[in-house]
Amino acid sequence: MKKKITIAIDGFSSTGKSTIAKLIAKKYNYIYVDTGAMYRAVTLFAKNNRFVTHDFLDKDSLIASLSNISLRFQFNENLGFAEMFLNNKNVENEIRTLEISQLVSKIAAISEVRKKLVAEQQEMGKNGGIVMDGRDIGTVVFPDAELKLYMTASPEKRAKRRYDELIEKGDIVSYEDILFNVQERDRIDSTRDDSPLVKATDAIEIDNSDLGIEEQFEKICELINQKIS
Ligand code: DC
Repeated sequence: MKKKITIAIDGFSSTGKSTIAKLIAKKYNYIYVDTGAMYRAVTLFAKNNRFVTHDFLDKDSLIASLSNISLRFQFNENLGFAEMFLNNKNVENEIRTLEISQLVSKIAAISEVRKKLVAEQQEMGKNGGIVMDGRDIGTVVFPDAELKLYMTASPEKRAKRRYDELIEKGDIVSYEDILFNVQERDRIDSTRDDSPLVKATDAIEIDNSDLGIEEQFEKICELINQKIS
């Protein structure tokens, strides 16, 4: 029987982590966890309770309410991936807006939030057979993961991908706003005190600025096959 390993995928926003992670999960029959969705759901909770706006953050009230936040992924057969539920409500679309993207780095910098989410992520992956993407998976959540990938691409390519995704969904956004948001999040996510985005020393870097999905997937499957056989 093939060994069920833990695969950690880290990198900046819109580096194609989730696309690759979903393909891996499907091929190897692994659980896929999008940890960004969890930070986004906590941000939506904070926004709905008026704990955060563009120029305000009531960190203490959010921390005091953390025990009222219940997060759950539920697999959607039609979509082929798990959707995010916040307190039993499907928030998959609501967490992907530009507004949430603009607020999420503030929330993800709060240590108490990270502590709660990291514990939940470790619980989900305790039996292996998991592919998890985020910013701190190979460094903090699963430092002993058998395979660690670090995905990169230029900010312009990443902004274009995110822009195309939002336009396709019918959102009215400008490429310049998206590029600014991508660069701002890169800066905040990689300079925060708690668990900044850094490449784990044993992670394999994949720059996909000019690499198609199929090429990347093939390369990654080879790496996985080496680990599981
Ligand atoms: O992957 P994403 O763009 O959906 O992530 C949203 C935000 O959540 C991102 O700006 C940083 C934060 N995040 C984090 O701090 N740690 C993670 N493991 C995943 C995401």
